[in-house]
Amino acid sequence: MCGIFGIVTDKEQALGPILTEAALRLTYRGYDSVGAATISGSKIDLRKDKGRIKDVAEAYNFAEMIGSRGITQLRWATFGEPSQVNSQPHLDSDGDLVGAHNGNVVNNVELRQQFAAEGMTVRSMNDGESCVHAVERYINKGFDFIEAIRRAYGDLQGDYSFVIGQINDDKLYAIKKGSGLVVGIGEGFTCVSSDLPSILPLTRKIMRLNDGEIITLSPDKVELHSVKDGSLIQREPETVTETMEAVQKGGYAHFMLKEIHEQSQVAREVLHMLDGSPDVAAVIEKMKAARNLYFIGCGTSYHACLIGAVYFAQIAGRPVIPVLAPQFTPQYAPTVTSKDVGLFVSQSGETKDVLNALEVAEAKGMACYGLANVIGSTLTRATVSSLPLCCGYEISVPATKTFTNQVVTFLYLAYRMAGRDTQELAAIPALMDKTLEMVAAQVETIAAEINGWNDLYCLGYGGTYPIALEGALKLKEITYAHCEGMLSTEFKHGPLSAVSQGFPILFAAGPQDVPLIVSGLNEVTCRGARAIAIGQDDPRLHANASDVIVLPQSAPEITPLLAVLPLQLLSYHMSVLRGYDPDFPRNLSKTLTVD
Ligand code: AGP
Repeated sequence: MCGIFGIVTDKEQALGPILTEAALRLTYRGYDSVGAATISGSKIDLRKDKGRIKDVAEAYNFAEMIGSRGITQLRWATFGEPSQVNSQPHLDSDGDLVGAHNGNVVNNVELRQQFAAEGMTVRSMNDGESCVHAVERYINKGFDFIEAIRRAYGDLQGDYSFVIGQINDDKLYAIKKGSGLVVGIGEGFTCVSSDLPSILPLTRKIMRLNDGEIITLSPDKVELHSVKDGSLIQREPETVTETMEAVQKGGYAHFMLKEIHEQSQVAREVLHMLDGSPDVAAVIEKMKAARNLYFIGCGTSYHACLIGAVYFAQIAGRPVIPVLAPQFTPQYAPTVTSKDVGLFVSQSGETKDVLNALEVAEAKGMACYGLANVIGSTLTRATVSSLPLCCGYEISVPATKTFTNQVVTFLYLAYRMAGRDTQELAAIPALMDKTLEMVAAQVETIAAEINGWNDLYCLGYGGTYPIALEGALKLKEITYAHCEGMLSTEFKHGPLSAVSQGFPILFAAGPQDVPLIVSGLNEVTCRGARAIAIGQDDPRLHANASDVIVLPQSAPEITPLLAVLPLQLLSYHMSVLRGYDPDFPRNLSKTLTVD
């Protein structure tokens, strides 16, 4: 994910402590390296290394750094391993410019070759350095800063924001393209940061930015230019009056709703990370050679394991055993050997049930890998290597964005196992946004209509079977209603007797499974049930269901990722309608560190 912060002040001062504090507030965006640079006249003081902000700031004595302009960056490695040289900020060839970025420059490899061929000094593998050289390229040709950034923008592909400064100047410059960036305006300073909450302790006067805007920060003013034609953009600053908590919710009523809407962005982040991660190839090789392959998790993470197993079978022709972590010890540990591979999946990386299984698996010599959101958690430290979910903080107890990124990761790994082009997955984030847009109003209406029921079913088949389980878990977790998730074909083997007039049953339908789902729809509608189908636009669903929540057209393997979104929204709205706080449901905890 990464985080950047830059500040311009009206006098030389100790900027180190201000940069350290800002970096601490952005810690959630990156943990593996950190750096700070201050500019004082013709000198740039740059200190950086891999490690956490507290340790690096202490080891390199950030506290003594002086200047009138400063930049700090926290890195979550994508291009280049965590190391001192790959840490940000970066210098240009002569050490006159210093800058740092947040996001991903996807043509980084090609650009580095071009810069080297043009005689620039390329020191690292990191794409943040490419942002600096892209500007250097045009400053060297005599363009002013705004024009140099405009031209650099044309060369840098991907989603990113960066901030950059030059010696013997009194300004910093920044640009926003796809990654978060906010401006703060205070007494004697202006600043720019990856998020709003990190600015609020300094000032409540802020300016929100749009993609394609170049920002010039002076001690007493901020100017915006359009990257398109260089024209000046007029925008008045605004004053933030909300509480810090409201600001952290980003304008949404609850963290859950915010996190539901963050899913496309974090999916983009995890796909970029996986494309650049050196760990993926090693994990794939190990999985290919494994005798048995186990995906192990609890709750929502287990549901992701179930989808992962479907993907591996359907896409890569590789059987996988998905396991609820506590069942690993009694059922599978007796036969596990060092020829087997386990992927342990957990948002928190601290779930005791998962860690217990991990301990037993390791004692048996199994090769154990992790898939976790919280880097530095026990799971990530105890496994051979661990892939990050790249979701930032997930505050709401019901998992949403971490679930979809687990599923995206499994889909990506299945593609790699099969040797398929992972660029086909680049469509996922936009499809997620489109889904939320298409279903939002209808789901809210349905939530109000079925909210009186305290007994529901959620059914699916194939890749949508785990989605049915996940939808049911979300409903149970935050509405306190009983909702059972089930394979659609199992419904006739017993639960069908529960159907009465208006009884709500949700069906998640993959495009290839519509004929089977249609049978299920008819079995229940002819007995009076309200059958709510979730699937792509298909006349067979419209003809047989009571309601159809239409998803955008996508490849069949992407449907589960989209089908879960209306189910998340449905549980959210029902929870709110019932007067509950979906973020903090009773009796539950985000991290379950007990047996
Ligand atoms: C999900 O909404 C739940 N909060 C819960 O099922 C959770 O997924 C489970 O406790 C596992 O947590 P983990 O992913 O942190 O290991």
